[in-house]
Amino acid sequence: MRETVIFILLTGVITMTRADDCQAVNFGHGSVVCVCNATFCDSVGRIVLPGPGQFLSYVSSKTGSRLVRSQGQFQKNGTGAALRITLNPSQKYQRIKGFGGAMTDAAAMNIQSLSSGAQDQLLRQYFSPDGIEYRFVRVPMASCDFSTRLYTYADTPGDYDLKNFTLAEEDVHMKIPLLQRAQALSAKPLNLFASAWSAPAWLKTNGALTGKGTLKGKPGGREHKTWAQYYIRFLEEYQKYNLSFWGLTSGNEPTAGEMTNYSFQALGFTPETQRDWIALDLGPGLHSSSFSQTRLMILDDNRILLPHWAKVVLSDIQAARYVHGIGFHWYLNKIAPADITLTATHHLYPEYFLFGTEACAGWDPLDRGVRLGSWDRAEDYAHDIIQDLNNYVTGWTDWNLALNQDGGPNWVKNFVDSTIIVDSSKDIFYKQPTFYSMAHFSKFLWEESQRVGVSFSQHTSLEVSAYIRSDASAVLIILNRSDEEVQFEVWDQTLGFLPGSAPPHSILTLLWSRR
Ligand SMILES: *[C@@H]1O[C@H](CO)[C@@H](O)[C@H](O)[C@H]1NC(C)=O
Ligand SMILES: *[C@@H]1O[C@H](CO)[C@@H](O)[C@H](O)[C@H]1NC(C)=O
Ligand SMILES: *[C@@H]1O[C@H](CO)[C@@H](O)[C@H](O)[C@H]1NC(C)=O
Ligand SMILES: *[C@@H]1O[C@H](CO)[C@@H](O)[C@H](O)[C@H]1NC(C)=O
Ligand SMILES: *[C@@H]1O[C@H](CO)[C@@H](O)[C@H](O)[C@H]1NC(C)=O
Ligand SMILES: *[C@@H]1O[C@H](CO)[C@@H](O)[C@H](O)[C@H]1NC(C)=O
Repeated sequence: MRETVIFILLTGVITMTRADDCQAVNFGHGSVVCVCNATFCDSVGRIVLPGPGQFLSYVSSKTGSRLVRSQGQFQKNGTGAALRITLNPSQKYQRIKGFGGAMTDAAAMNIQSLSSGAQDQLLRQYFSPDGIEYRFVRVPMASCDFSTRLYTYADTPGDYDLKNFTLAEEDVHMKIPLLQRAQALSAKPLNLFASAWSAPAWLKTNGALTGKGTLKGKPGGREHKTWAQYYIRFLEEYQKYNLSFWGLTSGNEPTAGEMTNYSFQALGFTPETQRDWIALDLGPGLHSSSFSQTRLMILDDNRILLPHWAKVVLSDIQAARYVHGIGFHWYLNKIAPADITLTATHHLYPEYFLFGTEACAGWDPLDRGVRLGSWDRAEDYAHDIIQDLNNYVTGWTDWNLALNQDGGPNWVKNFVDSTIIVDSSKDIFYKQPTFYSMAHFSKFLWEESQRVGVSFSQHTSLEVSAYIRSDASAVLIILNRSDEEVQFEVWDQTLGFLPGSAPPHSILTLLWSRR
């Protein structure tokens, strides 16, 4: 359904076209969710840039706008707005890799709990050119907390040669078929990356998948070699299903298994043992396999560990030669400022990319689980992504692609929120405000988009990030977390002034051609 409304603004005529409308439901958590079923889902659609001198604007807001599109015109004269945002394309920063989410066992179970028509709708929302065009999918290797049982792919004690290595039912019947469908819907090859939570119990000091424990022996030893081969066996098995991996991480949250009696699957490494395992086992193993192009990300743990963790691993030339990037999580960000963690690491090791490998809402003990329609959480996402991108990060991966209304399943009841919440009893799913936060980035920031400079004529509480894409178009993403609307103008030297306004509690993506 399309409707066209003409708005008269202070500054000119803007044509506003609303794409297929969000079927909004308000659960009383600040804003609305959009309901989708097997035959209907609101969709942003394909984006065609308007002609020279025109811009597109997409806005989502607490009051219920969801990627509402409007079109306007640059003007030669200033608009009189007190705030001028100047685009500085000659200040060039990092290039974007992309955005995505994780195909956990729980996500796959929730997606498969829907009818096949609703499953298609959901996958299209994330992966198709009509949807928000996720490029990245994190794939857990074997079980994690978002599983319904504990398993690895090599649970036969003493199987050092991994003769009994086998993918699980969860891979063969759940994650793999869904990943293949996601790939088929996607216009470009998906970038998959794998992360392991725990090694098989018999390789570990504590003889269990959970709790405090590390690999037995030392880097270079038998257990460490087997654990490196396990990664290669995983890549080989997925390859048999035509799923090749863009990358992998050296293991999920290594500090969890190192420091505490952790309640779910974990494998402890210190930066030193991770460094030595990469230098002696994982790096050489991958290098001499047919997966030598697979990108290796270290850390995969909270950014508060930066830059120390990176210094320990990357200052060792034997380890550093096998590493491509640094993956990090968003938990504890409040006590880990982006400049002294991310930017500091970038300046020390500019040739290694920074990449957000996990984040979710509803993890904080004081604000747990699913909140249908929470706008605060949409702002948390957009704020964090902008902050990361403005500190040299190249991509951002959300956690579970779909959860149920409890925020699970999760065998240890570590329930959290997700961008899509499934209600299988009604064969529907809810797109949360966080889904649209992701969209404001994933849909517009193509791979290789380059962040560029912006400057402000006066102090502003707006959060802004600016890009030039491969077709020379410009993208500006603006977050207003405050209660009032503010008028502004964007100045692009090649085109003039773009009249804009950021509604209270809104996320805005502006884009235009600069040719
Ligand atoms: C699906 O949603 C649309 C839009 O809300 C509605 O018109 C339609 O009846 C729904 N279909 C089913 C099977 O509930
Ligand atoms: C633009 O500015 C010039 C110079 O200040 C002025 O002469 C002209 O009338 C302005 N045009 C519009 C459309 O306001
Ligand atoms: C492991 O593999 C061997 C030989 O391939 C087989 O005989 C044995 O039953 C397997 N063990 C398990 C626990 O799967
Ligand atoms: C993998 O792709 C090849 C070539 O496109 C095709 O022949 C083969 O059937 C596919 N295999 C699987 C398991 O999907
Ligand atoms: C670790 O936690 C588990 C489960 O809570 C408990 O059974 C076990 O005794 C704990 N181990 C130690 C060493 O504290
Ligand atoms: C959002 O609105 C508030 C209130 O005017 C303002 O303080 C803040 O700077 C605004 N952000 C934008 C969009 O300018």
